[in-house]
Amino acid sequence: MKDNNSDIQADKQEFSDLLRSTNRDGVEELLEYLDEEPMRFFTAPASVNHHLNHDGGLVRHSLNVCHAGLKLRELAIEARPDLAPHLTRDSVIIATLLHDICKADIYQPVRKTRRNRFGINVDFDTYDIDYSNFPIGHGEKSAILALWTGLDITKEELLAIRWHMTAWELPMQSYEALRNLNTARDLHPLCALVQLADNFAAALTEFGTTIHI
Ligand SMILES: [Fe+2]
Ligand SMILES: [Fe+2]
Repeated sequence: MKDNNSDIQADKQEFSDLLRSTNRDGVEELLEYLDEEPMRFFTAPASVNHHLNHDGGLVRHSLNVCHAGLKLRELAIEARPDLAPHLTRDSVIIATLLHDICKADIYQPVRKTRRNRFGINVDFDTYDIDYSNFPIGHGEKSAILALWTGLDITKEELLAIRWHMTAWELPMQSYEALRNLNTARDLHPLCALVQLADNFAAALTEFGTTIHI
């Protein structure tokens, strides 16, 4: 939707370099999977009507969450040195960069027409949302896709990805889901760190990035 190809290429490179820096098995296969149809991770928007709703918005959001997560990691370890083994740099990179890969195949670019205030029909580019490729949920889908591609991923990273939406999803969920979320947060500080980094990026780093169409 937006002519920011050079930004997208730079963001794709940084995303790939950060994942490769973890030296985890399966990173190359995951990068290939995200780049191929039906996934469009590197050109997908982060949303339709909210933050970073333009081509390349999803990879930018993922990087923003990773940057926030790495800084929050430093703050957390400064305040609580005993948390260091639970908040490794590699885990923060894996969990933040992959938390929203579930969105890569749901936004379909479309051109629509609307009548402007002068009564003239004008075309505009936007996205339709289509969950049909793999309708299994949000955090669940990101975790499963990472596993599916064969990435070497830890239990803590999977839980942080699965529960990154915190209570936003819970009105539609069961009491058991709430118990699982709270247990994951109680056991693994990486869960809270990814939740905080996601909120920080969406609310502050990406403040004012919505394109109103
Ligand atoms: Fe999300
Ligand atoms: Fe997110």
